[in-house]
Amino acid sequence: MSLWLMLAFTAILSVGSAAAEDAVERGGYLVTTIIACGNCHTPKDANGQPILSRALSGGLSFETPNFSGTASNITPDLETGIGRWSDLDIKLALTTGVRPAAARLPGVPLSDVMPTHFYKALLPRDVDAIVAYLRTVSPVRNEVPLPNYKREVTPAPYPDAEIGFTPSSLNDEVRRGAYLATIGHCMGCHTPRTKGLSDFRNSLGKGGTRYDPAFVKGYPSAWKGSVASNITSHPQAGIGAWTDAEVKRALTQGIARDGRELDTPMKDHTPYFRGMTDEDLNSLVAWLRTVPPLE
Ligand code: HEC
Ligand code: HEC
Repeated sequence: MSLWLMLAFTAILSVGSAAAEDAVERGGYLVTTIIACGNCHTPKDANGQPILSRALSGGLSFETPNFSGTASNITPDLETGIGRWSDLDIKLALTTGVRPAAARLPGVPLSDVMPTHFYKALLPRDVDAIVAYLRTVSPVRNEVPLPNYKREVTPAPYPDAEIGFTPSSLNDEVRRGAYLATIGHCMGCHTPRTKGLSDFRNSLGKGGTRYDPAFVKGYPSAWKGSVASNITSHPQAGIGAWTDAEVKRALTQGIARDGRELDTPMKDHTPYFRGMTDEDLNSLVAWLRTVPPLE
């Protein structure tokens, strides 16, 4: 092979590995900031802090009227994690909730506690990035208990996830914010439910859901029953009168406008949201401003 050809090949290979590194970095950014997979999938210590040496190895146990089960071990451990799953297996589980043949319960749909109806909005390149990142996480052996499905639930479709996004959406500040709010499933918590179904059409962001301490088991800094806030643009009932800095402080430090410390489960998200870039935080706030005001 001529020297030129060899140089050309080396150049192509290094472009390839730089792209792979970018993907791992992007995936790591999404997983550890706005999406906060670890908030469910990483175990917590007695003070409610995530045990990072066991990151993503199986976390919170939920006990809801529909489901009793634990957020899975999603490290690459071959026996107890997702190390035997193909890239496609992981992508499908993430965006459609379908378990692959390599899973413990092949074909059994994942509980709606796992927010796949929001993750379906993920851009293909971001799904690839998340998978690339998950492959780099340290494998941890931890067998989580098998889930128990008490009732089948089809979650209410989230309008922005149904419409979807394109890479160019991210160039527009408000659409970029809408994308982040979708994959961060803010409105899954901040929208009230009617007969168990989130009413995204009429009550987007209106708040009101109570975070019942009975819904999470073995969670040291237990939920105390906080009620999801109204985060619509309503000037009194919502956050319409808050400054951008005040909204960002709530997201990244867990402090409300009046200085009150926000409680779990919002509080647990703040260490994740703190890692977001300023551009992303500003976009998220820009989108929140567009949420129609509701009393
Ligand atoms: C709100 C909590 C929550 C968040 C956030 C969350 N998950 Fe999950 N996830 C769960 C629960 C609970 C299960 C188990 C569901 C079941 O057993 O039906 C699960 C299951 C999974 C599974 C299936 C694993 C298996 O062995 O069956 C994968 C893969 C997964 N999650 C990946 C992710 C990734 C990647 C993210 C972030 C992009 C994420 N999850 C965010 C709660 C969550
Ligand atoms: C797991 C559920 C959950 C998720 C996900 C969540 N929140 Fe919250 N959020 C809450 C709860 C509950 C409170 C109220 C906490 C309290 O009053 O102590 C809250 C409080 C807030 C507040 C403070 C409002 C006020 O009036 O004090 C803001 C702002 C907020 N959330 C925005 C967001 C945004 C934006 C996202 C997504 C990036 C998000 N939240 C994701 C549950 C959640």
